[in-house]
Amino acid sequence: MVNDARLRGCAVGAFNVITVEHAEAIVTGAEQAGRPVILQISENAVRFHHGRIAPIAAAARAVAAASSVLVGLHLDHVESDELLADAVATGFGSVMYDASRRSYAHNVAATSAAAALCHRHGLWIESELGEIGGKDGAHAPGARTDPHEAATYVDATNVDALAVAVGSSHAMHTRTARLDHELIARLREAVRVPLVLHGSSGVPDNELSAAVRAGMAKINIGTALNLAFTRSVRASLTANADLVDPRRYLAPARDAMAATVANSLRLLSAPGSSPAAQPTVGMRTSDG
Ligand code: G3H
Ligand code: ZN
Repeated sequence: MVNDARLRGCAVGAFNVITVEHAEAIVTGAEQAGRPVILQISENAVRFHHGRIAPIAAAARAVAAASSVLVGLHLDHVESDELLADAVATGFGSVMYDASRRSYAHNVAATSAAAALCHRHGLWIESELGEIGGKDGAHAPGARTDPHEAATYVDATNVDALAVAVGSSHAMHTRTARLDHELIARLREAVRVPLVLHGSSGVPDNELSAAVRAGMAKINIGTALNLAFTRSVRASLTANADLVDPRRYLAPARDAMAATVANSLRLLSAPGSSPAAQPTVGMRTSDG
């Protein structure tokens, strides 16, 4: 999906799943926009589900299988090698292995081993170089990925896609990030695999479209869905203090997330391109 988007000069939207309602909203939004989409479950979301990956992955997989558009299932920001092994066993099509907090040498060594494992089992692997700002306070917002180092890193690790630091920052509540489009173009030129933008919730519409035009092929969005979801729940509960049935406030919150997904996906297409949105689940196993 991501290689195809790169060739077409557009990008695939990848949205974070925390609850079943997230997965339903993401697929509904993709269907509304008529675009393929990636459901991604992060290591932090697995931790929220008591460290058990199988139930939420099975739910996301079932939602994907019932979709009329192409859906990928991706495990996001994996730092634990045990969880990486679980991804192999749980039917994910791809993972983002995150060794970005380690030194360059450790990042290369750990990511090469992860890539070899993923490729042995038919998984696509993304990794990160250059610390994308904001996550858990561990990354510097001013971090930037060097194009020459990125090219060397991709050759050394054999990853299939690379998350780069170009000005976005995780978990922003305002859309005020300014991206370095000239750097994106230089990275696109230097790096032989698709580029991934993390922390896209804080990036304004025009900046996001320009980032795709400059060469970003996978756009990760999480916080924007949670903002839409929580705003809606808060409004429902404020408007009706007697509300008890969760379906009464979860249904509009799920609709609000779907609208956010549809709007974001419409920004990511190349002018005049027709999306590859066949009803297939982008996972390895044949029973999904
Ligand atoms: O990997 C997930 C994304 O980078 C989400 O970032 O929550 O800031 O949109 P965000
Ligand atoms: Zn991220």
